[in-house]
Amino acid sequence: MRGEPIIEVDGLVKRYGQLVAVDAVSFVVNEGEIFGLLGPNGAGKTTTISVLSCLTPPTAGTAKIAGLDVTRNSLAARSKIGVVPQEIALYPTLTARDNLVFWGRMYGVPERTLAERIDELLSVVQLAERAGGRIDTFSGGMKRRINIAAGLIHRPDVLFLDEPTVGIDPQTRRSILDLVKDLNASGLTVLYTTHYLEEAEFLCDRVGIMDEGKMLAIGTRAELTTSIGATTSIDVRADGLDDSIVDWLSSLEQVTDVARDGDDLTINTTAEANLLPVIVERLAAGGAKVHSVDVKVPNLESVFLHLTGKSLRDEGDQDAAATKTNALHG
Ligand SMILES: Nc1ncnc2c1ncn2[C@@H]1O[C@H](COP(=O)(O)OP(=O)(O)OP(=O)(O)O)[C@@H](O)[C@H]1O
Ligand SMILES: [Mg+2]
Repeated sequence: MRGEPIIEVDGLVKRYGQLVAVDAVSFVVNEGEIFGLLGPNGAGKTTTISVLSCLTPPTAGTAKIAGLDVTRNSLAARSKIGVVPQEIALYPTLTARDNLVFWGRMYGVPERTLAERIDELLSVVQLAERAGGRIDTFSGGMKRRINIAAGLIHRPDVLFLDEPTVGIDPQTRRSILDLVKDLNASGLTVLYTTHYLEEAEFLCDRVGIMDEGKMLAIGTRAELTTSIGATTSIDVRADGLDDSIVDWLSSLEQVTDVARDGDDLTINTTAEANLLPVIVERLAAGGAKVHSVDVKVPNLESVFLHLTGKSLRDEGDQDAAATKTNALHG
């Protein structure tokens, strides 16, 4: 049922020798959610996914998929999950269709339904016309989409996507993100790992922030930014401002700070969505003429910085620079 826990991770530990790759991580993903694991290289995202997909046993703790323990009930748990690995897992010399036939048989999809299922998936990932093309003639983005189709071949309830947009151009990235949203809208629960803040913000209902094996915080973007006390800043430029507007704004509960400098007004608030129309209305009623309004919403970057003391953008990979210019906020 939508909204019920479908992934339950409790005190999960994964050690490789001395190295603690996943360090007592707990989280719950509810049916119908897109849940993001956000963290830099080495945070433990892939290791968490590997344990949840029964590829490697946990050192300690438990993980359940649809109530099925991944260690004690791994076969049944696995049947609920589709996995789209970080590395493309396709045979380059086979066609798209033959790759999907291979994965379908691996997952035990009955032969009588396999062809139909493959047609359906090729159309979902918008590659029906390329069904007979060899994978080694496909672009990076097309390979990724076939990789996603392969993960869906056995109609899983939950899809794990491990950094599916690394190394692809912004336009293809957008088509993958839209595909994930569409799949989710049709009922699929998604666990999505990324080190891109914008993706986590665009896609995920809730986000778990990971670093060095630890889960540092979990919540919606609004919950996470509120939890660190971050406020939205509204900058208004208008003719005819006076200090009565400052006094009025200061008296409002959601406003944490107001400053006026001539025609410029800066308001810090915890509830921008409710406040903006009220401010504009009040200014108009007082005869002020508004020239511009600029809203700066705190983002997950502020949260990551606050929790770890470092920037998620300091990764030095080329995509970080590209996404920076596309950043929605801040
Ligand atoms: N099979 C393994 N043997 C030994 N160490 C491992 C193994 N797999 C992962 N690790 C280590 O565990 C830590 C977490 O790695 P993991 O791949 O889970 O990180 P990640 O968050 O997926 O990073 P990335 O964004 O680079 O994919 C790293 O220090 C890594 O070197
Ligand atoms: Mg990884």
